[in-house]
Amino acid sequence: MIYISPSILASNFAILGEQVAAAQAGGANMIHVDVMDGVFVPNISFGFPIIKSLSAHFSIPLDVHLMIDDPDKYVTLACESGADFLSVHIERLSDPHKTLSKIRTLGVHPSLTVSPKTPIETVFPYINDADMILIMTVEPGFGGQHIIPETLEKVSALRAETDRRGLKGFKIEVDGGIRRENIGTAVGAGANVIVTGSAVFGDPDISGAVKKLREAAKK
Ligand code: DX5
Ligand code: ZN
Repeated sequence: MIYISPSILASNFAILGEQVAAAQAGGANMIHVDVMDGVFVPNISFGFPIIKSLSAHFSIPLDVHLMIDDPDKYVTLACESGADFLSVHIERLSDPHKTLSKIRTLGVHPSLTVSPKTPIETVFPYINDADMILIMTVEPGFGGQHIIPETLEKVSALRAETDRRGLKGFKIEVDGGIRRENIGTAVGAGANVIVTGSAVFGDPDISGAVKKLREAAKK
């Protein structure tokens, strides 16, 4: 199964609810929520009140991506705000096992994230602690960038490792620069959770964009 997770970073915040509803109507499986603090990444997006509002209003799972300097400090708040999946960057964790376990204890699916320059092998010791691994396909910080093609080699390497361990259907998420033209390549490399920001919310027909991405994923 392929999960499509549109990123609201590219949405129109003045009509956020309408736009999320349109993505859901188009068959989105989750909603990707990018929290940026202006320290870990050179951009500031929004914080936990947005997660709380979306969670109270929608039943679609919230796929929260923390791009912040001290994730351990905010994991509890993110979970209590209504995250269903919580992605934390390995580059900012002193003890990934401990953080992922804490997320799980709080009833949320733990996800470990790697930035483009971080070797994929760094997550191998923590695969069993995570329900998903998020492989950044652009440098984190901004929507609308072009995919870094080499990052898909990390997707293939991780898929080979999870297959080797017999973890059928393990969630491997890709995030950044995914659009209709390359979603098939990402899926072919082994990704099964696909974040798409501008390719969904930058399209005047949000529902149609999700449907077209799903079609393109099959090719
Ligand atoms: C980038 C964010 C992404 C971004 C994706 O730092 O983590 O989730 O919103 O947007 P697109 O699909 O436009 O690259
Ligand atoms: Zn993201």
